[in-house]
Amino acid sequence: MTASAAAPWGDRFRRSSGILALLLALGVMGGFYAAFAPKSYAEEGSSSSADVTDGQKLFATGCASCHGRNAQGIKDRGPSLVGVGASSVEFQVSSGRMPLARQEAQAQRKPPRYTDEETKQLAAYVQSLGGGPQLPAGNVLRDGDLAQGGRLFRTNCASCHSFSSNGGALSSGKFAPSLEHATDRQIYAAMQSGPQNMPVFGDAQLTPQEKQSIIKFVQSLKAEKDPGGMGIGRTGPVPEGLVIFLIGLVVLLFAAVWIAGKS
Ligand code: HEC
Ligand code: HEC
Repeated sequence: MTASAAAPWGDRFRRSSGILALLLALGVMGGFYAAFAPKSYAEEGSSSSADVTDGQKLFATGCASCHGRNAQGIKDRGPSLVGVGASSVEFQVSSGRMPLARQEAQAQRKPPRYTDEETKQLAAYVQSLGGGPQLPAGNVLRDGDLAQGGRLFRTNCASCHSFSSNGGALSSGKFAPSLEHATDRQIYAAMQSGPQNMPVFGDAQLTPQEKQSIIKFVQSLKAEKDPGGMGIGRTGPVPEGLVIFLIGLVVLLFAAVWIAGKS
């Protein structure tokens, strides 16, 4: 009787000292992490001179044939990239437009040829040549306001990309593409660099906060476009209705045959 009465108290003591040890261990681990973490969040986006050197090598093999050895441009092949900025490179390379496959009215979106790391290196190299717009570090969606984004999209972007962001034709074989595949960073970079016939939206025209609102709005349109429903190829409500109708028909047919067989 005495032993069993003492046991819960002993248990409780052992449990709380266990928790204490756990907290201590967590604290020590946190300290280690803070001391040895590879890099802090704020440093993300800044580039080192190693990036510039690596980027220059990638550039020499993949881009120099059109843009020139020092990115000064080659007549009738590729424009100078001095001063276009890291943002333009990230947009062009991450959306697969560059390296250009062949000369055409407008570079097309393709699966990217370079990894994120290599894209960053190429961007750092071009940035080192003559400055230019750079994407902000970290999440470019942090301060977005959906309602403001909708208003700004309608006044600044819808004339070319349409109200639903599905895109539209421009003159002489050019077009404003649909925005459904664009990532947050690509939308930001497109506004900063103004590819092809798209105007540049500098921070004076659209503040960084307004740009984030537009991104939020564009991405919300994508979410709406998903028709929902069962995953039969995401084909939308009409084919889904058809499938349900056909299944129902078969069930009714079997029921009729069964009833007929009974009577
Ligand atoms: C076959 C030729 C060709 C190759 C290879 C090529 N480019 Fe281009 N690039 C062009 C042409 C032409 C344009 C302009 C047409 C356009 O913007 O669609 C251009 C435009 C660009 C722009 C936009 C410039 C601006 O004014 O904002 C960037 C950035 C760029 N290229 C980077 C690169 C990088 C980085 C590579 C290598 C990974 C590369 N290009 C490879 C031909 C090429
Ligand atoms: C005058 C017409 C015009 C206006 C206005 C315009 N764009 Fe564009 N936009 C274009 C064209 C043309 C391209 C294609 C450029 C290319 O392929 O090099 C483009 C490309 C883009 C892309 C790349 C899409 C992809 O997935 O590859 C994004 C993102 C984009 N625009 C966002 C915007 C936003 C946001 C606005 C408003 C702030 C805007 N655009 C205003 C013409 C326009």
